[in-house]
Amino acid sequence: MGDTITILGLESSCDDTAAAVVRLSAGKARILSSVIIGQTALHAPFGGVVPEIAARAHAEKIDLCVERALSEAACDLAGLDAIAVTSGPGLIGGVLAGVMCARGIAAATGLPLIGINHLAGHALTPRMTDGLGFPYLMLLVSGGHCQFLIVEAPDRFSRLGGTIDDAPGEAFDKIAKILGLPQPGGPAVEAEARRGTADRFGFPRPLLDRAGCDLSFSGLKTAVLRARDAVVAEKGGITETDRADLCAGFQAAVADVLVEKSRRALESYLSSSPAEPALAVAGGVAANRTIRDRLSELCHERGVRFVAPPLALCTDNAAMIAWAGIERLRIGSVEPGDLVARPRWPLDERRPAILGSGKKGAKA
Ligand code: KG4
Ligand code: ZN
Repeated sequence: MGDTITILGLESSCDDTAAAVVRLSAGKARILSSVIIGQTALHAPFGGVVPEIAARAHAEKIDLCVERALSEAACDLAGLDAIAVTSGPGLIGGVLAGVMCARGIAAATGLPLIGINHLAGHALTPRMTDGLGFPYLMLLVSGGHCQFLIVEAPDRFSRLGGTIDDAPGEAFDKIAKILGLPQPGGPAVEAEARRGTADRFGFPRPLLDRAGCDLSFSGLKTAVLRARDAVVAEKGGITETDRADLCAGFQAAVADVLVEKSRRALESYLSSSPAEPALAVAGGVAANRTIRDRLSELCHERGVRFVAPPLALCTDNAAMIAWAGIERLRIGSVEPGDLVARPRWPLDERRPAILGSGKKGAKA
């Protein structure tokens, strides 16, 4: 192994089957391959991820993913130092498909096996892409996750707050659905919002009156639904302008809440005087221009570096799992117990679990 570590990563906790090979050599990370087989079309008729369909599709495709990842990386099993696999949190059938596959390869080759928390994969990505030093602040915002974490070490995270109900991506998807826009809703709502007037409906900014960094998006979702119903009741339908204004108002409310809660999270993080202060984002919602620009402005104001990894590495992928495996191997933190598939697995076990489980499975 020496100066170079090469790891095969597997991810199957939600609706993407993925395998990747990542190599750390002379202090530099290189993604040799990253293969993703998505399941969007399989779940589309049901309006959300169906766990049984997901589990079966993962079991069917995971071997193919591994084969492709090794071949694209021009690497065989003998060239690997270990296998890293998502062992939670997520939909249990999918997680099991990945863990069983990884166990099989490990049994056949004798390679060490490392169980990775999916959220740790997201949270450690900015170290692979931008070489961030510990500790940094992380905002995970996707269809399944929403939380603030201080990333202190590859196996140490401190959760400052998170959503108490929906994840913001879920809310974007729901708003798109009630306004007749395509899925996934985020990009469609963002495009509409560009043409709309954000302050016409005066939507609420949930939980801003409560101290701390917890967030809530379900009331905002309901407020948009009520506003749409009121327009329909008044005019018999909604015009393109109504739709754009609803989207703009909703997006502005989400951005305001994320920025204000990020400001508070930054305050708490900065109070310990980190050496190289940084805020990193991950998750599909981080693709949103308005949200990204507003967070970047906030960081600029506070003299904090803002890092947003390329979108393909912000959303679910296996390179982040392989990288998390490298990080853990480097510090010798490889726990056999981490290989037990866990549908719920908070990164910061000292904090009470986040309530709720979205359409994409458990949030932590
Ligand atoms: O991280 P991700 O690919 O998957 C998981 O949730 O695991 O995130 C997908 C979510 C979807 O809910 C999608 O609507 C949202 O990210 N999203 C966006 C944008 N692009 C994707 N939300 C707001 N604005 C966008 N441009
Ligand atoms: Zn994820």
